[in-house]
This record gives sequence, structure tokens and C-alpha cells, in this order.
Amino acid sequence: MSDAEVEAASLAALAQAEAACTRCPLYRDATQVVPGEGHRQARMMVVGEQPGDREDLAGRPFVGPAGRLFDAALAEAEIPSDRVFVTNAVKHFKFERRGKRRLHSRPNAGDIDRCNWWLGQERKLVAPAVLVAMGATAVRSLLGKPASISSLRGEAIRLEDGTQMVATVHLSYLLRIRDADARESERAGFIADLRRGWGLAKG
Ligand code: URA
Repeated sequence: MSDAEVEAASLAALAQAEAACTRCPLYRDATQVVPGEGHRQARMMVVGEQPGDREDLAGRPFVGPAGRLFDAALAEAEIPSDRVFVTNAVKHFKFERRGKRRLHSRPNAGDIDRCNWWLGQERKLVAPAVLVAMGATAVRSLLGKPASISSLRGEAIRLEDGTQMVATVHLSYLLRIRDADARESERAGFIADLRRGWGLAKG
């Protein structure tokens, strides 16, 4: 059994083990691993896709433009950010170099499935009642198979371990919408999904 397969006893130990991960090739080009962070016994865990450029440099999830949008949405949903745990389905930044720029590259099924071990470890340690899956990558990781957000949205799915999953769109989708009305309506839907998750988490 390699170090990367030993179950960690704490989030700090888990972050150390993640930093040594070579399960997939993404560690080679990324600056560092980006572990999840937040309340150690959060009732709600929010799962994104993968760290972006800013997160890769900072070593922390959701610190770039998507993170600012997320923080504003949490505030609007009246969810205290310090009661939530935020993480990603894939823990290293996957990108393509274009000159000096590093362009986000979508994780494939293999990247997601290999990194699922770490998300599973975070879930065991934090033991949230509710998982909010933001986007198709998070959904694939949590369900172990692909499913469309539109087919899952609006209901809570009970996973094998009893955790409830609420699926919603990814923040990068919201950031890409150019039309102001469409963006506002999608943002409102996203906030409603966060509220649904939080309502379930509070029991
Ligand atoms: N998008 C994500 O899915 N995760 C991050 O940490 C940042 C942006």
C-alpha cells in the first residue's frame, strides 16, 4: 500500500498525503495540490471542478474570480461561509500553455476517477450531510458516472452512504454568460440551489 492509499486521520494529514500524490500525471505541471478547506465538521460540503490558475498559485480553493462569485452567492443565500467546507473533484490544476498564459483544460473521466480517492477521504473526515455538486465534473465524481445537471437539478439525490447531493451549475458557467438578464436568472437559480442544500444540511 503506498502513502497515497493510507487513510488520513485528520485534514492536515490528508493535505500532506495529497501533496505527495502521483496517481495521475496532473501533479507534474501544477504548482501544487489544492486541498479542500473550511469547517472540519461542516454539514454542507461544496464540490467544484478543479483549481484554476489563481488557486494553483495560492494552494487554496476558490480564491479567484469564481471564488468571489461564490462568496457573494453564499452571502446572498445567507449561508455563513465559515460553516461550509469547499473542495474540488480534481485537486490539481489542469491546463494548456499558450505563450505565457495557462488555459484551463477540462479534467477527463480518468482524472476525475483517480482523484475521487481524495474527495472520498475528505468526505469521510468531514462527514457532511449534504454535498452540493457544482457542474458535471463534481457530479461525475460523486455519482461515479456521468449525468447531466439539468436531469438532476431541483431534487436531492441520496448517495450510497446516505449523504444527500444537490446538483447545480458551475461558477465558470455563470461567469461566461454575457446577457445580463440571463446571467441574473442563472445566478438566482444557483443561489436557490445553495439554499436548498443548506436547508437540507440544517435538517
Ligand atoms: N473553480 C473550481 O471549480 N474550483 C476552484 O477552486 C476554483 C474555480
